[in-house]
Amino acid sequence: MKRKQPKVLLAIETSCDETALAVVRKKNERSIEVLADAVASQVDIHRATGGVVPEVAAREHVSVLRPLLHQVMQQSGVDVQDLNAIAVTIGPGLPPALAVGVTAARTLAYAWKKPVVPVHHIEGHIYSALLAGGSNAQNQKSKPVKVPWGPTGPYTGFQIPKPEKVFPALALIVSGGHTMLIHMTDHLQYEVIGSTRDDAAGEAFDKVARLLGLPYPGGPALSKLAQQGNPTAYDFPRPMVKDKSLDFSFAGLKTAVYYTLRQLSQQQAAAVKADLAASFEQAVIDTLVGKVAAALGRVPVRIVLLAGGVAANHKLRSELNKLASSRQVPLHSAPISLCGDNAIMIGLAGTFAYTASRLHPWNQLDFHARLDLTALARAQY
Ligand code: KG4
Ligand code: ZN
Repeated sequence: MKRKQPKVLLAIETSCDETALAVVRKKNERSIEVLADAVASQVDIHRATGGVVPEVAAREHVSVLRPLLHQVMQQSGVDVQDLNAIAVTIGPGLPPALAVGVTAARTLAYAWKKPVVPVHHIEGHIYSALLAGGSNAQNQKSKPVKVPWGPTGPYTGFQIPKPEKVFPALALIVSGGHTMLIHMTDHLQYEVIGSTRDDAAGEAFDKVARLLGLPYPGGPALSKLAQQGNPTAYDFPRPMVKDKSLDFSFAGLKTAVYYTLRQLSQQQAAAVKADLAASFEQAVIDTLVGKVAAALGRVPVRIVLLAGGVAANHKLRSELNKLASSRQVPLHSAPISLCGDNAIMIGLAGTFAYTASRLHPWNQLDFHARLDLTALARAQY
């Protein structure tokens, strides 16, 4: 059964180290408005440990979730009775962190007598690129406001493209936990055609950044340093780029940087740090772009989507853009400030899931640390 009227959703995201809430309203078949959004980043807390400690993340989600909820509900001007559903990330992610958002969604759903819309974290990332619809250049300006918390950007609304203009789509999702190539034939219809066999791209950035003595989170710090380096100084491997499969593997690349560093004295390493960063970054980008190129040759594609934390990398955006232009396929990259985890993306994907009647009563909902992207569409999880 399809639902046609304007719908209002509260969206909750707590799968890793950002506590994020948003209120979105599907105005009509063409657009979704953002009525309120807020994200509280835990980056400063996790910097001390050089990475996310799941229990620490969960405790932080617990302490900021209630004031954030109050803030977004007030900002949205939406009365609880006008809320149609609560969309929440149920996986994949860190179990203690996911548990906080899912428990909050269950509690609110029970108290407010609303259904819950379970959302897969990766489908959230996909929708942040699918609906943004803007060109890369247009989207590169807004920076996330995250301390102590604030809106992810000046978002007021997203246009819903006509399905025949965007599907079939090819999505490259690159984040701290995932590297995936997804073929999408329609809304909520996903086929994973490539994924990482070991480390995710963001994880590789974070680990190599650590080897280079850069602060957490490593990705942004490494790519900043790389701007001063020579990307051809070291010939690091482009893992599996010639392989027939569309899968990725970044663990060997990280190890190659490690062994290169081991052969250098501290003084030598300090002198070539920027070259190492630039050469590593180039190897990751060549690998990602190479796999997208291979995928374009195998499946029909109307647009390419780029999203996830690593999609904030300017060089990746521009090199993928070059590839897409050369193949005459438009590239939709998520706006920079929606590349990291946020609740707008969960609200956008949740709106489509709601329209498709993916609804759960509060007591039939759980979180799943590992969750197949296709499981929600198949209602098997
Ligand atoms: O999507 P996200 O916020 O969280 C997950 O769902 O994992 O992605 C975070 C990842 C981290 O590994 C971070 O280092 C990486 O995205 N990242 C970057 C950049 N900005 C963030 N990697 C490379 N270049 C960047 N500019
Ligand atoms: Zn993410």
